[in-house]
Amino acid sequence: MITRELKTVIQEYTSVEELNSEDQKLIKSAENAISSAYAPYSKFKVGASVLLMNGEVFSGSNQENAAYPSGLCAERVALFYANSKYPNISVKSIAVCAKNSDGLLEQPVPPCGSCRQVILESEIRFKNEIKIFLVGTKLIQVIENSKQLLPLHFDDKNLKVKG
Ligand code: THU
Repeated sequence: MITRELKTVIQEYTSVEELNSEDQKLIKSAENAISSAYAPYSKFKVGASVLLMNGEVFSGSNQENAAYPSGLCAERVALFYANSKYPNISVKSIAVCAKNSDGLLEQPVPPCGSCRQVILESEIRFKNEIKIFLVGTKLIQVIENSKQLLPLHFDDKNLKVKG
């Protein structure tokens, strides 16, 4: 038996001003996207913005449904929107932030497992790492790629492995 330790690297900032103007702009877009959330059940509104390599930004918000699993997270709305508009342009970065009844969250929201898997798929598809900004008003976490969030990930290579 061997024990393996897996490491995740996260950079943390306490203010958006510490980031460059491109990243700040993306974060602002994600904040603006919160206003289009449809979250009557959870009252938890999430905004996400995706920056493509061609400089275009696509934003999305969570869209809930009375049949709960039919809803979709903000990250996937934004990514699928960007990928369907530009199927050949890679994703550079994604920013996510959220609001509850007390206002913008102070602490960043970690993306759910399905959203992590979808970010990973975009990285594999375009052979390009995606920088992830998890944004709270008091803390911003910056993660270099989805593999940091999914250390034991499942991808296309697993489909080809012999049993
Ligand atoms: N949600 C997101 O949109 N993104 C996340 O990263 C976490 C959760 C949404 C799903 C659901 O509409 C609500 O937040 C509560 O889980």
